[in-house]
Amino acid sequence: MIKLDTIISLAKRRGFVFQSSEIYGGLNGCWDYGQLGVEMLLRLKNQWWKAMTYRDDIEGVDASILMHPRTWEASGHLAQFSDPMIDNKTSKARFRADNLIEEFIDRMKKKGKSQLATEIENQLVEAKQPADYLKIILDNLIPDPVSGTNDWTEVRNFNLMFKTFIGPAEDSSAVVYLRPESAQGIFVNFKNILESSRQRVPFGIAQIGKAFRNEINTKNFLFRTREFEQMEMQYFIKPGSELDWFEYWKEQRVNWYKNLGMKEENLKFHVHEKLAHYANHAVDIEFLFPFGWGEIEGIHSRTNFDLSAHQQFSGKKMEYVDNITNERYVPYVIETSGGVSRSFMAFLCAAYDEEEISEDGEKSEKRTVLHLSPKLAPMTVAVFPLVNKDGMPEFAEKIYQDLQTEFKAMYDTSGAIGRRYRRQDEIGTPFCVTIDGTSIEDDTVTIRDRDSMKQERISADSLKNYIKLRV
Ligand code: GAP
Repeated sequence: MIKLDTIISLAKRRGFVFQSSEIYGGLNGCWDYGQLGVEMLLRLKNQWWKAMTYRDDIEGVDASILMHPRTWEASGHLAQFSDPMIDNKTSKARFRADNLIEEFIDRMKKKGKSQLATEIENQLVEAKQPADYLKIILDNLIPDPVSGTNDWTEVRNFNLMFKTFIGPAEDSSAVVYLRPESAQGIFVNFKNILESSRQRVPFGIAQIGKAFRNEINTKNFLFRTREFEQMEMQYFIKPGSELDWFEYWKEQRVNWYKNLGMKEENLKFHVHEKLAHYANHAVDIEFLFPFGWGEIEGIHSRTNFDLSAHQQFSGKKMEYVDNITNERYVPYVIETSGGVSRSFMAFLCAAYDEEEISEDGEKSEKRTVLHLSPKLAPMTVAVFPLVNKDGMPEFAEKIYQDLQTEFKAMYDTSGAIGRRYRRQDEIGTPFCVTIDGTSIEDDTVTIRDRDSMKQERISADSLKNYIKLRV
């Protein structure tokens, strides 16, 4: 199993992801995408956008991050979007109480104390109030992982929304929040899109956008950050049809990850026992990260909780009238809610490999390779002149300029050809094109496949089509 540090180090070394404001020591829970990261991120979002909105029944939207503060009263986030927080008085370390308990359960499982682990797990499912979490921690003598003591404060609820002010006056009437989920931008636009499109229930609205959560503990690289991007879709349906649509979207979404290269054995469903305040059924799609299973996307049955609440708080009707059956109802919603950055990290982990190889009859060596789907790889093709003479650089440069009009391409003349391949393998470039002496004679090039490392000689004219077919 690869280590997360290996992925973090590759991501920094090759320009996928940097710590935010690194020159100032970094900002906890925030990350910047470098020259390759931004390309891969765009491709990932583009794949999702195409899968979700290039179909008859789903429209797109791009709502603003700042929304009317009543939105968050209606959605329940102001009252309920909080995590239980606890401090250790000796080490001054701060934890999410539920995470502290979960990590203790994992440790007990690893030590073979499965009965105790199950008992605490059951208590955790029942816990609702801060006092319930404290009781579990104190009753089970759960120690602070830093100091080892049981010197705990009370558990308090901590609202995760970032607060700011609109306009110059910093008073309570000017408070707005950075949205903690992009979904509410969809709900408040439900009527706008219904009335301005030709959609009828069932139909969906999809959005990709930033969300912000003042997480108590950020951890595991891009897994839990304070600023992140979501790709969310709300599918509006007739009440009573939610179980069928839930199953449909569960399958659609897990297949999306598989079609982009994730292996079946690294994906699983986790059914929620503890539900968010808006949901009556929820399943997570989990990926096997280097640190264990972790959620990458949630499928939630949100009933008509949000639309009814917005109807009540805004006084605007959120009903749908079926003009064929004359039925009138507030639609139910199945939500698919994926994290862009979490999936990005999952795709990197899924693609990473270290292999012993022998290429072109050369002696065997080790290569680091990202087996990324060509649809996600940040660089599609690299072009190399075999040597820097005999007309090869000129020919190669021409090919590179031409490829660059359609694909993200790179030109590399430095070092032995093997080293050039290694540099591209490490960033997941699916195709490398080499121009050699024969190229000058007959207008052909060799194209090497990253995964099989096989080379094919094809005519320079057919190169673009060859790549297009595979991307
Ligand atoms: N609208 C429903 C919603 O926001 P969620 O389970 O809280 O549900 C959905 O979040 C997805 O957003 C998660 O599966 C995860 O991929 C991503 N996500 C949530 N919090 C995150 C965080 N702090 N950092 C990175 N990604 C996060």
